Amino acid sequence: MKTRSATLWHVGQRWAVEELDLAEPGPGQVLVRIRATGLCHSDDHAVTGDSRPPLPLVGGHEGAGVVEAIGPGVTRASVGDHVVLAFNSPCGHCRYCAGGLSNLCAIARRRVGGEPAASPFSRAGETVWAMGGLGTFSERTVVPEDSVIVIDKDVPFAVAALLGCAVTTGWGAAVYLADVRRGETVVVVGCGGVGVNSLQGARNAGADIIVAVDPSEFKREQAVRFGATHAVADLARAREVLAELTGGHMADVAILSVGVADSDILGDMMSTLGLNGRGIITAVSPAAATTVNLSLVDFTLSQQTIRGNVYGGTNMHRDIPLLLGLYRRGKLQLDELISRTYPLDEINQGYADMHAGRNLRGVVLP
Ligand SMILES: NC(=O)c1ccc[n+]([C@@H]2O[C@H](COP(=O)([O-])OP(=O)(O)OC[C@H]3O[C@@H](n4cnc5c(N)ncnc54)[C@H](O)[C@@H]3O)[C@@H](O)[C@H]2O)c1
Ligand SMILES: [Zn+2]
Ligand SMILES: [Zn+2]
Repeated sequence: MKTRSATLWHVGQRWAVEELDLAEPGPGQVLVRIRATGLCHSDDHAVTGDSRPPLPLVGGHEGAGVVEAIGPGVTRASVGDHVVLAFNSPCGHCRYCAGGLSNLCAIARRRVGGEPAASPFSRAGETVWAMGGLGTFSERTVVPEDSVIVIDKDVPFAVAALLGCAVTTGWGAAVYLADVRRGETVVVVGCGGVGVNSLQGARNAGADIIVAVDPSEFKREQAVRFGATHAVADLARAREVLAELTGGHMADVAILSVGVADSDILGDMMSTLGLNGRGIITAVSPAAATTVNLSLVDFTLSQQTIRGNVYGGTNMHRDIPLLLGLYRRGKLQLDELISRTYPLDEINQGYADMHAGRNLRGVVLP
């Protein structure tokens, strides 16, 4: 079968929208007609070379669509089902899934790592890999049935797509990984598609003071709509505001969700935290970055924590229905995340708009 997809052939090039070959769904796989896919910053890291997934690559790991066909033995979805795709979907029985850490599923990681013959895409016999094991920048893709979560048919596809990464990663950073408690003070550094969902998560968890940090005025305006009680342009101003609001105690939680994290910004963010403060790193750093500029004595003697973030610590099969429930009852803003939609052919314009700070989230409708 043929499909049109946005493919990255070499670091530094643009997404090339062209026809590829797509394998039929094999045992345990489903064919999905993608109806919406979000423009997450993580795909752009492959373009800039900050991350190095195998190339050529069909981008996209934040998508939703309709099941068009199922392979032998599939039980989790039927033809016609509307689905959200999960890029690290739990197999349910590896040591991490069994231990309640299904976002770290070892089986899913092996797929994402790109085992030979793990991709359904090819061109003239050459394998084309799939971002996150999904490749949602495409009219159609074939994914393992573990990767699909069936949802109600009245959920808009663009909203459903964002549950595949931005919402879960951002919300879970606050609610699960930072474990924000009622009355706490939270700082979110970088308020794009992922960061604003950490603001919503902090608000859901009952945080009192929520400080958004972003140089973009548009993002700061949006941040207030998503739960920030204060919005400032940089970390120096955030420290002043926190010192004043907390009587010098500073923040309990800081979450880093800038587009690209470097060695300096992590240390800078940690200096917004007080005693027992928890720092969460959601933002991806360039593969070559290996140092952190941090006052170690302050870190140790303040009993602080720094924690990474994979998918917000969520379990997609639990959290997609949970988040859709919050959305239906008006406790989670999802429609408001979508700034603009684009046809697949305009995907490079969508990323230009992300870089220019014009979008909270751009969504492609392939
Ligand atoms: N860990 C995970 O599982 C996971 C999942 C999804 C995305 N990510 C990563 O999260 C990060 C954010 O993704 P996104 O899609 O929201 O990106 P985005 O481009 O939509 O948002 C980034 C925001 O950071 C702001 N920013 C840039 N420099 C800043 C600075 N010095 N201080 C404060 N704000 C600054 C930008 O203005 C923008 O609003 C990326 O690094 C992405 O790769 C990680
Ligand atoms: Zn993402
Ligand atoms: Zn597993």
